[in-house]
Amino acid sequence: DGKCCTCRAPVNIAVIKYWGKRDEKLILPVNSSLSATLGMDELHAKTSVAASSQFKDDRIWLNGKEESVSNPRIQNVLKEIRRRYAQKGDGDSAVMKVHICSENNFPTAAGLASSAAGYACMVYTLARLYGVDGELSEVARQGSGSACRSVYGGFVLWEKGQRSDGTDSLAKQIAPADHWPALRILILVVSDQKKQVGSTEGMQTTVATSELMQRRIEVVPQHTEQMIKAIKDRDFETFARITMQESNQFHAVCLDTYPPVFYLTDTSRLIIQMVHAYNTMCEKTRVAYTFDAGPNACLYLMEEDVARVVGLVNHFFPPGSDTSENFVRGRPVTLL
Ligand code: DP6
Repeated sequence: DGKCCTCRAPVNIAVIKYWGKRDEKLILPVNSSLSATLGMDELHAKTSVAASSQFKDDRIWLNGKEESVSNPRIQNVLKEIRRRYAQKGDGDSAVMKVHICSENNFPTAAGLASSAAGYACMVYTLARLYGVDGELSEVARQGSGSACRSVYGGFVLWEKGQRSDGTDSLAKQIAPADHWPALRILILVVSDQKKQVGSTEGMQTTVATSELMQRRIEVVPQHTEQMIKAIKDRDFETFARITMQESNQFHAVCLDTYPPVFYLTDTSRLIIQMVHAYNTMCEKTRVAYTFDAGPNACLYLMEEDVARVVGLVNHFFPPGSDTSENFVRGRPVTLL
């Protein structure tokens, strides 16, 4: 009497960062954010869900290890999908327990958006299994904020929304990936170690203690508006400048958090300097960096610059070199 479903979901890389919640339970952000969703060839999450009346309990395995299903975020997602299923009014699977297996093909919790792909994937797979349609970004958001953006491909805006029940805090596509086919992303893996301070905890402390955060909340709406226009106009220079300023402001706010939160390392800072030196040499902004809650760099650039930039990365960070963290490699990733 069982059913099974397997799906994959991609990673997204924010160019306008989400950092700070106005509601911890519903996961409602203090500002809107914007990202590009990657193609699924390289970094993705894969989830299989089986439902059966033989199962006594809901159970979950993450990257091969059983985890507690009582995790409140997993419960939020399961409850919401089952509530939507019950509304449809057909019975069975709502009472059936599920076994969920989820895995990433890239380092987990190293600031590479693993929770985004993971929750987007879990929500999508559960929705397929239960035959639930409708807006899924609202459900994915309740697993992990950034996950709501991985529900769509291309360039995606997560609108912060106004309502206290979160029904208007949704992701929407602002342009499909083929709108800007020459755009590429290089992921430079500086470290695949788990981050010291998780995003959830880090952003809580920032909201509670950072004075600069007030200023950030004022400027993000302008950044977002300019970014949407830059994407629509395929204006790489503006897109790149705002991407780098956003990343730098986000890490400045982390430093202004008390006690401070450090995600960038010396290697991350060398990458920042390398990008600015390259742009100066080209007399034009041709590459942008952005860093999430970890030391790994994501570079946005045009296809025509990929070979030269990968050459530079290999020159400055040769495999096995004597930098403290020498695990730097680049791979071009296309948008979904
Ligand atoms: C720095 O979505 O991981 O990557 O909602 O608490 O699960 P929770 O946080 P999470 O935060 C991601 C923060 C970021 C920026 C971004 O992706 O916009």
